[in-house]
Order: sequence, then structure tokens, then C-alpha cells
Amino acid sequence: MKERSPIQPAARAQALPENFFAALEEKINFLQSSGKDVIRLDVGSPDMPPPAGIVETLIRSAQEPRNHGYQALRGPLALRQAWASFYAARFQVDLDANTEILPLMGSKEGIFHFISSWVEPGGVVLIPDPGYMTYTRAALFAGAEPYYFPLNARNGFLPDLSAIPVEVLRRTRMLWLNYPNNPTAAVTDLTTFVQAVALAKEYGFWVCHDAAYSMVTFDGYRASSVLEIPGAKDVCVEFNSLSKSHNMAGWRVGVVVGNARAIRPLARVEVNISSGQFRPIMDAVVFALTGDQTWMAERNEIYRNRRDAAILGLAALGIPVDPPSGAIYLWCPIPNEEKSLDFVLRVLEATGVSFTPGIVFGQEGDNYFRISLTVEEKRIREAMQRMRIWRKE
Ligand SMILES: Cc1ncc(COP(=O)(O)O)c(C=O)c1O
Repeated sequence: MKERSPIQPAARAQALPENFFAALEEKINFLQSSGKDVIRLDVGSPDMPPPAGIVETLIRSAQEPRNHGYQALRGPLALRQAWASFYAARFQVDLDANTEILPLMGSKEGIFHFISSWVEPGGVVLIPDPGYMTYTRAALFAGAEPYYFPLNARNGFLPDLSAIPVEVLRRTRMLWLNYPNNPTAAVTDLTTFVQAVALAKEYGFWVCHDAAYSMVTFDGYRASSVLEIPGAKDVCVEFNSLSKSHNMAGWRVGVVVGNARAIRPLARVEVNISSGQFRPIMDAVVFALTGDQTWMAERNEIYRNRRDAAILGLAALGIPVDPPSGAIYLWCPIPNEEKSLDFVLRVLEATGVSFTPGIVFGQEGDNYFRISLTVEEKRIREAMQRMRIWRKE
């Protein structure tokens, strides 16, 4: 019998590039199994736990027999009201808990599905380069055309929206912004948002602000919501998450808020994918959002100290980095002409310190590596010390 050729995956799945972190994980596992002590400054997953009250609420709720069934996609009203009161208290933004808030199982899946809910094949998605990978991956999956705008030291890692050609703007379905930013850790004042909202109104597209790091800020800086701009709700949605704000990355808790019409098709997609979140998680989220938030100041201070320790170590290596006012990263120029992946792999082999190569976030990132401040300060110091010894050899 003639052998059949193997079944091929769909082109849209093949269009997705390999996940860098999965490949890195394998390499690190290998190094660790051969006895190397690897310092992981690559993954943006908070190492500190959420406040005890959040975990206790989860446990109490999980002990309720009736809390183990399927849940409504949008969760109980109390959950959406909790997000509404969080936005009101933090950003003075009013949200309708019934139409302008959709809880998500992590903002990542919401970002991914929002793009395919709204963009036809060939439609343009404006994406920062460097930027969080999911914007590009989701655009590719939807058959959309990513159009990259550069974030670099020359423009202060802020978009120059006036440089985007009119022909592109006419075909644009959505613009992605993310401040405090991953990977550059740049922050913005309201100017960027005002310009984005004006452009979106002129050309008719959505502004999607990814506010995953809005609660991790330093030195008195306070991040804004795009929805603080008057009239922003006409064209904006904002994705938020408890992953970084409340140290709950593994819980998978996110939200999209803003324009009700923008959110509706996403809800229609989501309801065909999931059957609501585990009720005890949602109960704990209500506690997280409505309970005391003052603990964050102390947590942010820990990140700030780590930031400063890393910057000091980098300076001694001849790598100048300005202290950022938000996010959990440092965006570091590579001291020679080496490409970021080569540099990062060479450092990992030689020192056991693991960074993220800038190329993972886009072409503009290839002269950079990213440090994640999610390990203890003494480990950051040790990483810098290992780098110093290596540079001297
Ligand atoms: C910019 C940005 N947006 C969204 C996410 C996803 O967060 P979540 O854990 O809510 O899916 C991340 C995670 O690292 C991120 O860096």
C-alpha cells in the first residue's frame, strides 16, 4: 500500500514561530542537571507570593461544595463590580460592570482572542517593536498584517505615530500600546494616549492598551489608564492583569475593560472556548481587588532595590541603564556588536546567568538583552559578580 504523507498542521498554526522560552527551558534544564547553578533573570514571573488573605479566601471558597461547578463566563456580578471599584479608586475611571468589563483567564488569552475577534485576514495591526510577543503571534494566527512601529532610545521608547503612513492607517484595525512597557520598562505620560485616541478616531480603529504593569511603579511615578483620557472609551479597551500587580501570575487572572461594543465579540469567542473560571479563584480576586492595596508599596520597594542593585552591577560592566519608573525589567544595551541571542547564550554557558535576548521582542531589540527583576537582590548581585569575573577572564 502506498504510504500516505503525514497529516500537516494548519497553516495558521505553522505561522506561529517557536516559543523561545520553551527552548530556553530545555537548555537550562540540561545545565541544571549537569550541576550548574543557573540564575534566572529571563522570565517575567513574580517570585513573591500574593498577600495571605488572597490565598486564604481561595482556600475557604474551595471548601464550599457548591463552588466546584461550571461558572458563567463573565463570573459573578461581584467580580465585575470589584474590577469597577478598583478602576474607580485607582484611575478614577467609571465602568459599567455589565457591559464594559469582561474577566479573562489571564490577559494573554484575552489579547490573543481579541485580535482574532476583530481583525480580518489582511487587516493591519499596529504593534510596538520591541513588544510583548503575543500581539504578533495573535496577528499572525488571525492572518493579519503586523505593522511595526519602533521603540528605541532615540524616541524614548515611545511611539512616533505620525510616522505611520496614511495608507497603513486606512487599513488599520487596532493599535497596541503597553506602558509601563515590556520589555523596555519605559513609562509614558498621557500624551501618547491622547495622540493614539485622536488617531483612532480619525481612522476608525481600536486602541488597545495593555496595562499589565500598571501597579508596579517606582520613585513616586503613578501609571495611568488610557481610559482616563476624555472620550477614550469611544475607541479604547484596556487589558489588565493580577499577574504582576498582585503576584498572581499562575492564577491566570486578567480583565478587559472599556468600549462595550469592542468587548462583545470577544465574549462571544470566549464563551465557545471556556466555561468560566474556577469560583474560588474569582472569590479570591474580589478580595484582592477590594481589600487593602497598601502592601504594594513595600513590594515595589523590593523591586526598586533589585533594580538599583542590577544597575550598579551593569554600570561596573560598562553597560549604562537609566533607572526605569515601572515594570519589572531592565532593558540593557549589549556592549559589543554581538547579536542578542549569541550574547545571551554565551553568557549562560559561561556564567550560568540567564537573560532574555532582545530579538525575542522584535528586530529593534537585537542590540539589547532584558533582565527580569524577579529574583532576590542577593542573587542579582551574584549574577553581576559572575559577569564581572567572566569579563575579566
Ligand atoms: C506586556 C504584557 N502583557 C500581558 C502579559 C500577560 O499577562 P497575563 O499573565 O495576565 O496573561 C504579559 C506577561 O508577561 C506582559 O508582559
